[in-house]
Amino acid sequence: MRIINNKFNIKMISENFGRYKYNEVDKYIELGGFIGLKVALEKGKQHVIDELKISGLRGRGGAAFPTWQKWEGGIRELDEETFVICNADEGEPDTFKDRELIAKDPYKVIEGLTISGYMRSAKTGAIYLREEYTYMKHELETVLELSREKGYLGKNILGTGFDFDIKVFSGVGAYICGEGSALIESMEGKAGKPRLKPPRIGSKGYLQMPTQFNNVESLAVVATILKMGASEYAKYGYGDSIGTKLISICGNVNKPGVYEIPFGLTLREIIENVAGGIENNKKVKFLQLGGVSGPLAPESLLDTRYTYEDLWDLDLGIGSGAILVADEDMSVIEYIKLANNFFHHESCGKCIPCREGVHVYKKK
Ligand SMILES: Cc1cc2nc3c(=O)[nH]c(=O)nc-3n(C[C@H](O)[C@H](O)[C@H](O)COP(=O)(O)O)c2cc1C
Repeated sequence: MRIINNKFNIKMISENFGRYKYNEVDKYIELGGFIGLKVALEKGKQHVIDELKISGLRGRGGAAFPTWQKWEGGIRELDEETFVICNADEGEPDTFKDRELIAKDPYKVIEGLTISGYMRSAKTGAIYLREEYTYMKHELETVLELSREKGYLGKNILGTGFDFDIKVFSGVGAYICGEGSALIESMEGKAGKPRLKPPRIGSKGYLQMPTQFNNVESLAVVATILKMGASEYAKYGYGDSIGTKLISICGNVNKPGVYEIPFGLTLREIIENVAGGIENNKKVKFLQLGGVSGPLAPESLLDTRYTYEDLWDLDLGIGSGAILVADEDMSVIEYIKLANNFFHHESCGKCIPCREGVHVYKKK
């Protein structure tokens, strides 16, 4: 059984946080930046898949689909035009870990997306940046420009004959546009509403091209795994939940924020040892896991381990990695009304259960 090493101070995904600024590409390179991309280009696509299998990486956007499986199914040679997208819409309330990655290690995100482009033999990719994050667009564009100058983007990357470039698209400020097909519709200049499937975007996505779609954190983890080696990454975690996760924890805790934790801590340990305990020494009433669309966990489940499997067994989930903590003063009913109002406001109105089933509740 895998054990949890070095419980509260693991820095793999977040290893570069605070260590360089967005216009310091040389510092990123000194810190071991772009090694993951080099490994991918030198060792080839099968090596990337093998490493992702060992790492057990599951999509960090919420659906938790095994990344190796998505990527293996998507491997293409240059027989048709393909496209790759980094989903930086991060619209799920309580979720703010992708913002941290883009702000504190943007080159790693670019590196992960370039690896994804290589796997699909894509020539172009996009970062779909949440509208509220457009203040970071200029920084991301500088990161892209400096990466081009150093030969990590653009024509003939690292002399391998691989051509790939990235554009930044601004999101349209709608929750539904975090869903892949709605996101693509909005990139194509249409109303951001989900498409009926099939076809899935893996075969017909942006401008009808086969499109690979990943969350910001998933891409950063791919770059990390290829750099450090999957077996090293796999020393952390618990059971089948391998490695670490960036969580965003908020609500009635003393130290809300983004933290990297190994899978396997208990919810209680996360609250007490990572987030500094409950404000004013109150008691926990409930948690909400994975953002406002996630399930609520009562206080009685605080000794549950934070792993995919332990949470799924209880009909809970990791989702995006958000953890909201509510203390004894929070009314569950009032909280649910607020959550419901969010979904009422954000419903795109396309599907009947959501359009007809979500109502506005007034505050008492
Ligand atoms: C309504 C809705 C909103 C979503 N919002 C996001 C989002 O903001 N960011 C994200 O990465 N995934 C979001 N997802 C999940 C994506 O559809 C998709 O599963 C994910 O980006 C795939 O990347 P991954 O495999 O790396 O997790 C959303 C899904 C739905 C249905």
